[in-house]
Amino acid sequence: MSRLIVVSNRLPLGDNPSGGLVVALEDALRSSGGVWIGFSGEVKDDPDEQLQDHPGAPFQRLSFDLTPQDHHDYYLGYSNSMLWPVCHGRPNLMRILPEYLEGYKRVNARIADMMLPHLREGDRVWVQDYHLFPLAAELRARGVTCPIGLFLHIPFPGPADCAALPNPAEMFEWLSHFDLLGFQAHRDLGAFAESARQLAEVEQLSETCFRLSGREVRADVFPIGIDTASFIEEARDAPDEDRVRLLTGAKMMIGVDRLDYSKGIPQRFRAYQILLEQDPDLVECISFLQIAPPTREAVEAYQDIREETEHLAGRINGQFSTLNWTPIRFIHRPFPRPVLAGLYRQARIGLVTPLADGMNLVAKEYVAAQDPEDPGVLILSRFAGAAEEMTEALIINPHDPHDLAQAMAEAFRMPLEERRRRHAALLKGVIEHDVAWWSAAYLDALGR
Ligand code: G6P
Repeated sequence: MSRLIVVSNRLPLGDNPSGGLVVALEDALRSSGGVWIGFSGEVKDDPDEQLQDHPGAPFQRLSFDLTPQDHHDYYLGYSNSMLWPVCHGRPNLMRILPEYLEGYKRVNARIADMMLPHLREGDRVWVQDYHLFPLAAELRARGVTCPIGLFLHIPFPGPADCAALPNPAEMFEWLSHFDLLGFQAHRDLGAFAESARQLAEVEQLSETCFRLSGREVRADVFPIGIDTASFIEEARDAPDEDRVRLLTGAKMMIGVDRLDYSKGIPQRFRAYQILLEQDPDLVECISFLQIAPPTREAVEAYQDIREETEHLAGRINGQFSTLNWTPIRFIHRPFPRPVLAGLYRQARIGLVTPLADGMNLVAKEYVAAQDPEDPGVLILSRFAGAAEEMTEALIINPHDPHDLAQAMAEAFRMPLEERRRRHAALLKGVIEHDVAWWSAAYLDALGR
């Protein structure tokens, strides 16, 4: 069996690493004697020139460190100040510096150099996400001929956004060295085809086959899932002490997102404000818990979104709080997965309202965590990749606070029978298309 080599920016570290992606890839890595390669998380002035081994997982883990300059230019810079905003429809938030592009290419070339001694004939390489677009080109330039695939976890930008990059044609040239491009949603495959048509040298040979820069590349849709069975169990077994204490008769609404401007958190707060203004009966009856752990704090756009979010939460709490009730609990810290599972189960409403999102696994986790006898209601943005599959959710436009406020009221008052019907349909999809299904479907296509 050919070995699987996974490469991602983040390497799952610690003993017995967990998380959906680890669960998805663990079997394939273990059974093929495979390797996972990624950033150690260590920023060092003079990093090792060889990959470092991290024992303690059921597969081999090899890591690289970054210099402060590389971390700045490759991770904070080109990846998260250029590609991330462009892929999330926010080119106005880009910061374009020539050294970002240089650093991005330099780090990808260095990863290829370090990988080379570890690759064997017959391997398959599976690259994860936007940090590593040039990696296949760098490996090919070093004589690697094995199958190399990419899965993009975030949206693929349409032509207007792509064109805001300083180097759109170069981006397509990088992508042309992969054998298979995997996207989250049909929307992304469509954006890829259209952007390539307008900005690159491409011939579309079929719905999923392209001649890009003279090379044949397949592209298809593989919606990622969660580790559903274990999430269901975690939610069921979550201890009562990790629940929120509510006023008698009150119901909880929950949002869990990294504090990222793509997640639509201020829009969500404004909708809640409108709800409380228009529907004063809901004061003290609905309690909104927003958990938003910090992320990429060195990037200015993330400092701005934190300020905006905190300001709004303070204003709404000042406007509506009573002596015994605070409308928004805003927590700017991460929580362990089992605690989140229990909180999802407790919440009558799950809010997943990004302005743009690759898939959004919180939507799937929220559904998996519900008690099927008395399930909560998922409110889902039409701009999350998940909306293509999860059509039984209340689908909203996150830019329209009135639409969202109305969905909150509808979810709050939805009769049990309708909640059960919607939840059963959603859960069926989350069980059928879990993360094991996703990795098997992708690897099967890469092998073909
Ligand atoms: C998104 C990306 C991932 C990334 C994660 C956390 O889900 O698709 O590649 O790892 O965000 O972001 P961070 O910058 O902390 O790795």
